[in-house]
Amino acid sequence: MREQVPFIDLQGICYAYPVSGEAETTASLALNEVSLQIDRGEYVVLLGHNGSGKSTLARHCNALLLPDAGRVLVNGIDTRDEGKRRYVRDSVGMIFQHPDNQIIATIVEDDVAWSLSVRGFSRQEIRERVSQALEAVGIAHLRHSPPHKLSGGQRQRLAIAGVLALRPQCIIADEATSMLDPLSRREITRLLHQLQQAYGLAVIQVTHLLEEAVLAERVVVMEQGRIVHEGQPVEIFRDLEHLRRLKLAIPEPLELAQRLRLSGFSIAPEALTLETIAREVARA
Ligand SMILES: Nc1ncnc2c1ncn2[C@@H]1O[C@H](COP(=O)(O)OP(=O)(O)OP(=O)(O)O)[C@@H](O)[C@H]1O
Ligand SMILES: [Mg+2]
Repeated sequence: MREQVPFIDLQGICYAYPVSGEAETTASLALNEVSLQIDRGEYVVLLGHNGSGKSTLARHCNALLLPDAGRVLVNGIDTRDEGKRRYVRDSVGMIFQHPDNQIIATIVEDDVAWSLSVRGFSRQEIRERVSQALEAVGIAHLRHSPPHKLSGGQRQRLAIAGVLALRPQCIIADEATSMLDPLSRREITRLLHQLQQAYGLAVIQVTHLLEEAVLAERVVVMEQGRIVHEGQPVEIFRDLEHLRRLKLAIPEPLELAQRLRLSGFSIAPEALTLETIAREVARA
């Protein structure tokens, strides 16, 4: 069904973290024969409970880790190709749980400019890219502020701006919302969707929160270093028991829909948010 070469192509990759101390201790596989393709402009949520291998997979997508077996192609380039590593890293930007680890400068706009000046862009180009990136994430008004004065959500926006300024084709957000309050969490998820729409970016959102998967185009579920489930949100959320067995917390709207169904309401499986469930009840 695929018409084009995927943007990211993980082909049967295995990975074990090096074991410190005694050599040749049998290390368990953090990734076990994982194959996954991400298309250009696609929004994929990577779900799984602690230790299931999400971050390890994410780090293979931009050559922060290299597979022990199998291979990873980014836009057709093997991530083992050292000469193309900068291209791979710039094409697939990553943001993490703690934005502070990615913030370097003492003024917001200098922070976004930093990675551009390291790459030798002209002052004019840097100015344009910094302004555009700060506008895109909604913190242009804070450009002269010190990052430590920003809220957690604003600092995460700054980290996204830093990645965006390099004009990537894919952004991976690895638990980027997990330190935030629920409102900021939803705002960052909404921002990632906006960036996907505005720039045709592929987004891989790594999370253990099912509610962040509701609007994804595709959900990939991991367990013990393997992909165990893959599909559209409506397919994934159809089997709540399976998700519970994977130790994932079921979002309240889905619990509610399940209770309403048991009480005789007919709620369509596509109703995954409070708004759509309320509409179904009103229709009944
Ligand atoms: N730096 C490391 N050294 C050794 N083992 C590691 C390291 N990082 C992760 N692991 C192990 O690899 C496996 C997969 O971990 P990974 O961090 O990819 O999972 P995760 O799904 O991202 O978990 P979390 O939800 O906690 O972020 C786990 O068993 C973990 O203990
Ligand atoms: Mg992780």
